[in-house]
Amino acid sequence: MNLHPVGIIGTGKYVPDRILSNQELEQMVETNDEWIVTRTGIRERRMAAPEQATSDLAYQASLKAIAAAGITVEDLDLIIVSTITPDMFFPSTACLLQEKLGAKKAAAFDLSAACSGFIYGLATASNMIATGMYKHILVVGAETLSRITDYTDRNTCILFGDGAGAVVLGQVEEGRGFKSFELGADGGGGELLRVSGGGSRLPSSADTVSSKQHYIHMAGNDVFKFAVRIMGGAAEEALRKAGMNKEDINLLVPHQANVRIIQSALNRLDLPEEKCMINLDKYGNMSAASIPVALAEAVEQGRVHEGDCLVFVGFGGGLTWGASVLIW
Ligand code: UT7
Repeated sequence: MNLHPVGIIGTGKYVPDRILSNQELEQMVETNDEWIVTRTGIRERRMAAPEQATSDLAYQASLKAIAAAGITVEDLDLIIVSTITPDMFFPSTACLLQEKLGAKKAAAFDLSAACSGFIYGLATASNMIATGMYKHILVVGAETLSRITDYTDRNTCILFGDGAGAVVLGQVEEGRGFKSFELGADGGGGELLRVSGGGSRLPSSADTVSSKQHYIHMAGNDVFKFAVRIMGGAAEEALRKAGMNKEDINLLVPHQANVRIIQSALNRLDLPEEKCMINLDKYGNMSAASIPVALAEAVEQGRVHEGDCLVFVGFGGGLTWGASVLIW
């Protein structure tokens, strides 16, 4: 089969206006700005307004990505929303977004791979375009993590924020676009990062609410060690599959969980910080939204040029990980 080259033809991001600073968190739990900054690199994060759900954030980011791609909503064949904080169990957030956008011709589904969800979404969408099944696919990473964060738990509440990033994938000229994907999972580590309540195993009840089962529970240090191990390795594997080397990288766009995790990936790849997009100081960890928001900001800031080699890499609950090499 003759495969079409597929790339990102438009990016967009949206973050809510409300800022939650480290100083504010100092009033809520036993923590301090110095600890949060040195251990994580995070200074502030955004919080959705009470009336905003994940699809509302996704909608704003999507409008920008569609405009940047120079297409109309009518051109969209498929919408994939990667999220662990859907508006509701079903209909999917992708269907709610399809209706908001008026993208009548688009199929729609959600994808659940936690913080790796955006890269899983890119891999799924790019293959559908490469094979000629579809022409334009909207891939969104959108989260309202503030809705599943326990603001009495200092181990987690300092980390997470809300936001959405979107890209449109389409055919590009020969030589450009996605060169490789490396996806992985280790279900054995699922316990380390989870929300247990409200599913079929532990349906919502007064008991699940009072025992805080609807919030994120995380074994932070174990996830940290996993992330340090997997980030550099996944990026190297994606480069190997693309037939490229670490010296070829122009910009690394990593999942924004912890600046120390990003630093470890940079060390492994022998990359200087200038070749890495870091914006977690402003937004914290937005799970599936982190990478597309970082990419959209890199584009806004003029840090991405035609022909550049970009590497995306992320890890998260599941456990899952993913990496991809793209020629812009
Ligand atoms: O997208 C994937 C999602 N998850 C992640 O990426 C999380 C990855 N993990 C991390 O980023 C880090 O593990 C954390 C930032 C969560 C924690 O940093 P750490 O260096 O692994 O610290 P730790 O959990 O080993 O805790 C060290 C100490 C503990 O006190 P003791 O037991 O040594 O007395 C904690 O209780 O720091 C304490 N601590 C805090 N102190 C002040 C934990 N959270 C806080 C806090 N403020 N917010």
